[in-house]
Amino acid sequence: MTTHTAVPKAELHCHIEGAAPPSLVMRLAEKHNVDVSSIIDAKGKYVWSDFTSFLQAYDLASSVFKTPGDYALLSETYFRMLAAEGAIYGEIFVSPDHAQAAGLSYRSYIEGLAAGIERAKDETGIEGRMIAVGVRHFGAAAVERVAKEVVGNPHPLVTGFGLAGDEREGHAANFAKAFRMAGDAGLGLTAHAGEFSGADSILAALEFLRVKRIGHGVRAIEDKDLIKRLVDERVVLEVCPASNVKLGVCSVLRFHPINLLRRQGVRMTLNSDDPPFFDTTLGREYSSVSKTFGWTFADQISITRTAIEAAFCDHSTKQRLL
Ligand code: ADE
Ligand code: ZN
Repeated sequence: MTTHTAVPKAELHCHIEGAAPPSLVMRLAEKHNVDVSSIIDAKGKYVWSDFTSFLQAYDLASSVFKTPGDYALLSETYFRMLAAEGAIYGEIFVSPDHAQAAGLSYRSYIEGLAAGIERAKDETGIEGRMIAVGVRHFGAAAVERVAKEVVGNPHPLVTGFGLAGDEREGHAANFAKAFRMAGDAGLGLTAHAGEFSGADSILAALEFLRVKRIGHGVRAIEDKDLIKRLVDERVVLEVCPASNVKLGVCSVLRFHPINLLRRQGVRMTLNSDDPPFFDTTLGREYSSVSKTFGWTFADQISITRTAIEAAFCDHSTKQRLL
C-alpha cells in the first residue's frame, strides 16, 4: 500500500480522453493506423507547449479511440487506477464531439464508456458517473447539439452536462440555451471558468449558465466580492492544481491560490484534469497539496466529503459513500 491510499478520495473533474495513458494511445494508434508521433516522445510522454498545443495534442490522442470496446478499455483502465489510489467515486467528462470525430455515435460512445465503468466497479467497488461536455471553441450551435443529444438519449450514468475547451472564446451567454435544456432535464451543471479568463468569466458562468460547480475557478482570487458570493452560495470549485501549474495559470504550487480560497471558506475539491498530460494522478494531487500547504488528514477527508456532497449522483449513493 502506498502512503496516499489511506485517505478516501473522490474526483469530479477529469476528461476521460485526457486521462488516456500514452502507452494505451500508442497501442490503439497502431491498431487503427493513426500517427501519434508528434504528441508522444521517445520516453512515452505527451508533448505539448502551451494551452493551444495541449488542446491539439488532446484532440489527436482522442482520435485513436474508435470503437465502443476502445472506450470501455479506456474508462476501465482509468477507474481501476483511481480505485488503486484509494478513490471511492469519480466523475469523468465525456466529449461526444470527440467521439463523433472518431466516427462513433453518441450511444455507442456512452455504452462503451459505461461498460468500462461497470467492469471497474465490479472489480474494485468504485462508483463512476459521466458528465457530457460541449467544447466552447466549437461554438454555441455545437454545444447545443451535444445538449440535445444528451437530453434525447438519457443514460443512468450520464448525470451531468458541462462546458470545456478554450474559455477565451465566446461569452457564457452564448451557451445559456444549451445549459437551460440540460438543467431542465435534471442534469447537474458545471462549466470551466476562471482558468484562462478572470473573475468576470466565473461571474458570467454563474449568471448565464446557472451552475453550482465551477471547473477550476481559481482566478476568483482576483475579486473579493466574487469570493464572498462563492462562499454565500456554497459554489464548489473543481480545483486542478497540477494542471494550473503545467499550463501556466499559476507559476508554482506554493503560489497557487487554493489555500487562500479555502481559508476564506470557498468549498472545493481536488482533481487531476488530464492526468498523464500534467504528470499527475488524483493521489498525487492530494499528497502534493497537503504537503505544500500543511493540510492534515482531516483536511483531506473534508475535501473528499465536499466532492461527494457536490457529486452529480443520487442521494442514496451519496449516503452510502459519505
Ligand atoms: N479540455 C481538457 N482539458 C481542459 C482544460 N484544462 N481546460 C479546458 N478544456 C479542457
Ligand atoms: Zn478540465
